[in-house]
Amino acid sequence: MKKVTVVGAGNVGATCADVLAQKNFLDEVVLIDIKEGFAEGKALDIWQAAAINHFDTRVVGYTNDYSKTAGSEVVVITSGLPRKPGMSRDDLISVNAKIMMDVVGNVIKYSPDAIVIVVSNPLDVMTYAAHKASGKSHLKIFGMAGILDTARYKAFLATELNVAPNSIQALLMGGHGDTMVPLPRYTTVAGIPVTQLIAEDKLNAIIERTKGGGGEIVKLLGTSAWYAPGAAAAQMVESIVNNQNHVFPVCVQLNGEWGQNDVYLGAPVRLGRNGIEEIINIDLNEKEMSDLVTSSAAVKSVMDVFDGMNLI
Ligand code: NAI
Ligand code: 2OP
Repeated sequence: MKKVTVVGAGNVGATCADVLAQKNFLDEVVLIDIKEGFAEGKALDIWQAAAINHFDTRVVGYTNDYSKTAGSEVVVITSGLPRKPGMSRDDLISVNAKIMMDVVGNVIKYSPDAIVIVVSNPLDVMTYAAHKASGKSHLKIFGMAGILDTARYKAFLATELNVAPNSIQALLMGGHGDTMVPLPRYTTVAGIPVTQLIAEDKLNAIIERTKGGGGEIVKLLGTSAWYAPGAAAAQMVESIVNNQNHVFPVCVQLNGEWGQNDVYLGAPVRLGRNGIEEIINIDLNEKEMSDLVTSSAAVKSVMDVFDGMNLI
């Protein structure tokens, strides 16, 4: 039985469950939320679309009943507050860290072997918190941000170049925030270096827009994005459950890679049946390395805030 749980039936969690159902490769998706009746309602609505959207994946929802999540192959954690205008992702830490501790304990109790994907913000630090609370290998508990950030980068490039977003290959490293490190040297359109196709000032403007991509949506909507984030988490689930070995930027604990230790940063990894099958240690030039070090310091300072909360 191929079973996946999504914790948090809000905007991102319900979208992730819906995308997973429409991909139609799972037997069951379980949605869990703390708000009475909420996961049940969202799951019922998604399941009622099965006949229209042609899928058989059963989608069910429960209020905080983790016994129903038992035996999940993958668990996606989206529970917690989203960003509101004026808030940074880091402002969310005090509330979301406590929620994360509670959720991870319940997830591990019923699905000790599950691979866990963290989505809640501040992403890099919530991944750290979840990893610490879980006692699992860092290759089995990691965070979603890089697929979303590269998808935004690709969307902006696709608009500028009038090409299909799917023709663009791109990579981005570092934290999920203003210090993220888009890598134009690793960006191509069907193998053509992007720098041959776009003027430097335009590319720089796209990179800056990508860095502020989450905030741009918060400003427009009054809350953070969900379509692209939910789809991004679902893509990670698919690569794991179907052992596709896709290479994605994923937030993972680094243990010496790029000279970074005990920090959670986006890096290219191969995702398969065992979770992170490989961290791909690409070459970075001096400027890219210095941007990564800056990003690492920014994430570490928020990790320190979590440590200061003494939740573990
Ligand atoms: P939302 O408010 O729509 O949904 C969050 C859900 O979590 C709510 O339904 C709430 O009842 C539930 N929840 C709260 N405490 C819980 C608990 N202890 N157990 C189970 N469920 C609980 O928020 P949205 O928009 O879905 O965002 C979810 C999180 O994902 C936020 O922290 C947001 O910042 C983050 N996010 C991360 C992204 C990334 O790239 N990593 C992208 C977009 C959002
Ligand atoms: C986003 O990037 C806020 O992390 C959220 O949309």
